[in-house]
Amino acid sequence: MRIAVIGSTGQLGTDLVDQLTRSGDHQLLLLPHERLDVTQRDQVHAAVAGMDVVINCAAFVRVDDCEEHPALAVAVNTLGALHVAQACAAHGALCTYISTDYVFRGDKGTPYTEDDQPTPVNVYGATKASGELMVQQAAPKWLILRIASVFGAAGARGKGGNFVEAILQQAKSGRPIRVVADQWMSPTYTRDVASSMETLLRNGATGLFHAANTGRCSWYAFATTALQMVGLAVAVEPISAADLIRPAKRPQDASLACERLAKITGPIPPWEDALHRYLVEKGHRSA
Ligand SMILES: NC(=O)c1ccc[n+]([C@@H]2O[C@H](COP(=O)([O-])OP(=O)(O)OC[C@H]3O[C@@H](n4cnc5c(N)ncnc54)[C@H](OP(=O)(O)O)[C@@H]3O)[C@@H](O)[C@H]2O)c1
Repeated sequence: MRIAVIGSTGQLGTDLVDQLTRSGDHQLLLLPHERLDVTQRDQVHAAVAGMDVVINCAAFVRVDDCEEHPALAVAVNTLGALHVAQACAAHGALCTYISTDYVFRGDKGTPYTEDDQPTPVNVYGATKASGELMVQQAAPKWLILRIASVFGAAGARGKGGNFVEAILQQAKSGRPIRVVADQWMSPTYTRDVASSMETLLRNGATGLFHAANTGRCSWYAFATTALQMVGLAVAVEPISAADLIRPAKRPQDASLACERLAKITGPIPPWEDALHRYLVEKGHRSA
């Protein structure tokens, strides 16, 4: 397949490119931000000509900054998605959009399935939910993967790293660590998303899929598990989300049910297993 990866040097883009390169079966077109700005409609149309598949990993991901800069969030996450979808329609390519658990309010009480309606609580989630709609109405062939709380070796460019690295750095620096214990999510390892994505493409899958690791945890449990796995015995203070003053609201529990994906890919590794492999990959612990 001829596959274009937009946002190819991002946290997920990096592992997608690695996965698709290692399989050896695809012709890849790498489109980092320097080469393609998704807010520029004509640039996008020209860039993806001749592709069978376009994977759009580009996003404005800083959730709090999206509240302060809603026009930029809409431009990248919503209009950018539309430009890519329209270009895919024009060139007959499958349009693949990466979305987020933050499309959900987080008050359901059980993990969200693909049949639940988006009910975002912040600008970032609203722009991503709108991006999904743009893809669905403009692209005849589309595949949307909702992922969550992402960790990958490259670290989120937009966030300057990821949660796991931030916790390990804080622990090593001796600074006190306080982590929210009353918000839950489904951690997502980029290597597992990349592998799932390739399986979906090979199977010709289209439609909406949740693609996190199996299970759910609080941010506190995620942090303490990571510290235990690397043998750092430091205290972590559990706090409430209400103790933090942040511009954007967060969903209380937007964890994702991924059974639809598992029917195609087979069992998705639990988040603890994924975290272990990530820590080995980064050299934080031995296998
Ligand atoms: N990180 C998370 O926890 C999380 C959770 C759920 C869903 N997601 C979704 O997962 C996807 C990948 O996120 P990530 O974690 O890999 O974040 P990331 O590392 O920040 O990747 C985003 C990429 O988009 C690029 N980009 C930003 N604005 C652009 C523009 N106008 N045109 C083209 N490229 C642009 C960035 O390039 P520059 O850095 O060079 O600007 C970066 O390479 C996104 O769709 C995000 O919404 C992420």
